[in-house]
Amino acid sequence: MSLKLDTTYLGSLQESEEYIQNVKKATHALKSLQAGSGKGSEFLGWLNLPAEIDPPFLDEISKTIQEIKDHSKVLIVIGIGGSYLGSNAVISALTSKFRNQIADSNNKLEIYFAGTNISSVDLNDLIDALGDKDFSINIISKSGTTTEPALAFRVLKAKLYEKYGEKASQKRIIATTDASKGALKKQADIYNWKTYIIPDNVGGRFSVFTPVGLLPIKAANINIHELIAGAKKAQNDLTKISNSNLAVQYAAIRKTLYDQGKSIEILANYEPRLSLIAAWWKQLFGESEGKENRGLFPASVDFTCDLHSMGQYIQEGPRHLFETILHVEQIETNITIPEENGNHDNLNYLAGKSLDYVNKKAEEGTLQAHVNGGVPNIRILLEKLDAYHIGYLLYYFEISCGISAYLLEVNPFDQPGVEAYKIKMFELLGKPSS
Ligand code: PA5
Repeated sequence: MSLKLDTTYLGSLQESEEYIQNVKKATHALKSLQAGSGKGSEFLGWLNLPAEIDPPFLDEISKTIQEIKDHSKVLIVIGIGGSYLGSNAVISALTSKFRNQIADSNNKLEIYFAGTNISSVDLNDLIDALGDKDFSINIISKSGTTTEPALAFRVLKAKLYEKYGEKASQKRIIATTDASKGALKKQADIYNWKTYIIPDNVGGRFSVFTPVGLLPIKAANINIHELIAGAKKAQNDLTKISNSNLAVQYAAIRKTLYDQGKSIEILANYEPRLSLIAAWWKQLFGESEGKENRGLFPASVDFTCDLHSMGQYIQEGPRHLFETILHVEQIETNITIPEENGNHDNLNYLAGKSLDYVNKKAEEGTLQAHVNGGVPNIRILLEKLDAYHIGYLLYYFEISCGISAYLLEVNPFDQPGVEAYKIKMFELLGKPSS
């Protein structure tokens, strides 16, 4: 099986009447998603997306990346929220964190993200790192009007024009945006930039399997056919109306724990590469569920690192949290702990063991300690850390999120609260009304 849900440490929760009722409700929620009869049903394009993606479309994306590689060493991906978190997560999960330092020797593109804030220090750091390297830009914005990416694009486009001139820059800009609306689409039409379309019925945080995610992911040399194959398998498995559907079970567990006062879900990993999967997951669940004074607060930790920071709170702080552990079963890279003469660090008892063996024991020990401390734990078991399994995992979270939000009786596909800061910011900036 591509993904398993380990509920061993939940005790008798799954025998409770509350859980059984929540499974029924979750199954009903899944039916509503499929029938398009629930809240926000105009944004359900992601549900069947993996099965609808044509392999030739993936080949076309690969061709575009090859064209970029022919003239650029660097691809700057500009986008915020759902327009960058998915690709950033997949790239981090499947490539070395040192990929940009070693990209040149491997004939790969360096990839940098911009437009995720309005910090001049951050953008300046990127410009410094870019130096005189040849670069291209993938600007991603569904609305085409989001301030953070629009500002970063304006600055970086000016750099591009300065270096290559407006005409020659044309082939160095790829716009991923709405089919007809927004300032970005307008510019793409005027300047004849290559454009990828974000389907109307797919919201930002559910867009990782559209060109929003696929183009940057392919730029990192990741097998997008495999990623989609994993997502397709997940679509096949997790749209089945059944009590053994793992998305239904996960949603029902979350809701049961939430009703018991466990209002914070911590997504924990023991592989740092999964850290940004958690960042994507936090947006997915936070923005989909947190409304109308309802919703679990999605938090994340990187273990064992954060056991030395947040571990104390998790073990002994208020008992309002539960943990979901992302566990990778087979780690392909392995390091064996060497024997050392003298044993001055007292580690010879581990000599000959793999580092992954120790990591997994740390996970087991932590799990037992946290459960004993009153923190319910579940584990999502991924067989491997590869494109197929990550594709499966992302779709698993998407559909679990849709079901979960329906269990809370909120619309998973809007984000009205995000406007509040924009209104205040634009007032302060004196933005003219359009
Ligand atoms: O999930 C969402 O809809 C948001 O996080 C958006 O992706 C984010 O605000 C960026 O929007 P846009 O792509 O329109 O620039």
